[in-house]
Amino acid sequence: MPLYWRVCLINGLVFVAGTVALALAPVTVSATVLVSELVVLTFGLIGIVVLNSILLRTSLAPLDRLIRLMDTVDLQRPGQRLTVAGSSAVGQLLRGFNAMLERLETERSTSNAKALAAQEAERQRIARELHDEIGQGLTAVLLGLKQLSARVPAEAQADLRDVQDTARATLDEVRGVARRLRPGVLEDLGLHSALAALATEFSAHGLRVRRVTSPGLPDLGSERDLVIYRVAQEALTNVARHSDARTVRLALNRQGPVVLLTVDDDGRGLRGAAESTGIRGMRERALLIGAELTVGASELGGTAVRLEVPCEAAR
Ligand SMILES: Nc1ncnc2c1ncn2[C@@H]1O[C@H](COP(=O)(O)OP(=O)(O)OP(=O)(O)O)[C@@H](O)[C@H]1O
Ligand SMILES: [Mg+2]
Repeated sequence: MPLYWRVCLINGLVFVAGTVALALAPVTVSATVLVSELVVLTFGLIGIVVLNSILLRTSLAPLDRLIRLMDTVDLQRPGQRLTVAGSSAVGQLLRGFNAMLERLETERSTSNAKALAAQEAERQRIARELHDEIGQGLTAVLLGLKQLSARVPAEAQADLRDVQDTARATLDEVRGVARRLRPGVLEDLGLHSALAALATEFSAHGLRVRRVTSPGLPDLGSERDLVIYRVAQEALTNVARHSDARTVRLALNRQGPVVLLTVDDDGRGLRGAAESTGIRGMRERALLIGAELTVGASELGGTAVRLEVPCEAAR
C-alpha cells in the first residue's frame, strides 16, 4: 500500500474509533460547554492523538532507521543492511536501499582492486627502472672511478675516494628505494623474510622492533601476503613518523580461523587524530581480501593496528 494511503487509513481508523467511542459513551455536550464535559472531551482528544501517533510511529519507524543508516553508512565497513519485514511501500524502499548498498560495495571493491593493482604495477615499473637504469648507471660510474684511481696522482686520491663514497651511498639509496617500492624479497623468500627485512629496516631508524611470528602459518597466497606486507609497512611508517615510540612489536600469528597481523607501539597513541590516506589505504587493501582492519589503543600504551585475515580460503 502506498505510504500516503497508509497514513490516510491509520488516521481514518482512529477517527472512526473516536466517533464510535463518542456515540457509545454516555456523554453529552451542552450548547454551552460545561467544565465537566470539557474534561471528558480533553481526555478523549488526548486518547485520539496518542493512539494516532503510536500507530503512525510504528508504521514509519523503518523510515527513521533508513535515514539513520543513510547518514552513517560507510562503504569501507561493508555489510551494513536494514532488516526488512513485509512488502509494503516502506519495505520496498528499504529493500531497494539494501540492493543499492550491495551494488555500491561491489563496484567500489572492483574499482579499488583495479586502482591498487595499477598502483602496484606502476611501483614495479619504477622500481625496475630505478634498478636497471639508474642502478646500472651508478655501477658503471663506480667501476670507472675504480679504474681511474690507478691513474690519478696521489694528492687527488682523497677527493676521488670521497666521490666513490658518494656514488656508493647513492647506489645503496637507489637500491633501498627500489626495494621499498617492490618487495622482491616477498616474491623470492616469502612473507616471513619480507617482514624480517622490514623490521631490520625500521630498526635502523633508532626504533626497537620486536618481531613475533609463529611458525607453520598457512600459505595465504601472494595477494594476501602483499596486503599483509603493505599494511605492516604503512603501520611501521606511521610508528616511525608519528608515535615517538621506543619499541614496536610486529606480530604475525594464527588465531583460530584468522591469521592476525598486529603492529603495537608504546608511543603517544592516536589522540583522536583523523584517518588520512595511509590508514584509509590499509582499509581498502584489507577489504580486497575480505580482511578486517582495526586501528586503536595498544596494550603497550600507544597505537595498535590489527589486521585479521581469514584463512579458511588459505591455499
Ligand atoms: N602509530 C601512531 N602513533 C601515533 N599517531 C598515529 C599513529 N599512526 C597514525 N597516527 C595518527 O593518525 C593520523 C593518520 O594516519 P595516516 O597514516 O592515515 O596518515 P599520515 O601518516 O598522516 O599520512 P600518509 O597519508 O602519508 O600516511 C596521523 O597523521 C597521525 O596523527
Ligand atoms: Mg601514514
